[in-house]
Amino acid sequence: MATVFVLANQKGGVGKTTSTYNLGVALADIGQRVLLLDLDPQGGLTYCAGFEPEELGKTIYHSLIRNTNPREVLISNDYGVDLLPANIDLSIAEFQLINAPARERRVTKIVNEFRDEYDFILIDSQPSLGLLTMNSLAAADQVIIPVSCEYLSVRGTHALLTLIAKVKGTLNSQLTIAGILPTMFDSRTLHGRAILKLLETEFPNIHLFPHTVARSIRFAESAAERVPVFEAKIQVPGALAYRELARDLVKNK
Ligand SMILES: Nc1ncnc2c1ncn2[C@@H]1O[C@H](COP(=O)(O)OP(=O)(O)O)[C@@H](O)[C@H]1O
Ligand SMILES: [Mg+2]
Repeated sequence: MATVFVLANQKGGVGKTTSTYNLGVALADIGQRVLLLDLDPQGGLTYCAGFEPEELGKTIYHSLIRNTNPREVLISNDYGVDLLPANIDLSIAEFQLINAPARERRVTKIVNEFRDEYDFILIDSQPSLGLLTMNSLAAADQVIIPVSCEYLSVRGTHALLTLIAKVKGTLNSQLTIAGILPTMFDSRTLHGRAILKLLETEFPNIHLFPHTVARSIRFAESAAERVPVFEAKIQVPGALAYRELARDLVKNK
């Protein structure tokens, strides 16, 4: 039975997509059955996984809005993960859902189709607190909050926590926060170290994953080359964080 994680933060560029993909591959590498859901119209996760978003005929949009069987949308890549891909079509989904019945439960319906077949389902969400993000939070068991190690990113986390509390009180009482995952950490800067401290004091009741993801240009390079960061010839310290996080998630399952 799958545990469903959503990687959420309404701020863009904090490492949601990078974390979803590399954590997914790290989980698959240790024998877990992994399904990834791309819920960002920009299709970054779909691209990272090796696909050309705009060349895909059917995407998660069709399952959400047109009731296409999600199995018709499902694709697999060479690194052991399955994916429900997205592209720009998804950008109109929020408008189309506004008056739809059970509009907050569309992702839940899709996720529940696959729960029995995977160990982990990871949802990459878009940088907004709109209906699609709400759908992801309604569908998930746990939230992982990637926060880049800079002040504005920390500040933005409060709005997300408010939305999570709201979803917990209405759509999904079982939802828990797995933790905050610090990303793009630069140990050489005072600011980076100060932010790690700040995360502890600012969110004392939320688990802070000890697997801080170090900043490395290899993440951007590997996304462009569409190979997981683990494939780089030189060990990328940040990549190890995803491996350790994957091991912990399996251990705590
Ligand atoms: N640990 C990291 N170090 C350096 N760059 C990173 C790291 N993680 C992600 N990136 C890069 O930062 C940019 C934003 O990351 P991304 O995962 O797309 O964020 P989000 O999905 O939150 O918008 C991308 O170019 C990505 O390759
Ligand atoms: Mg993204």
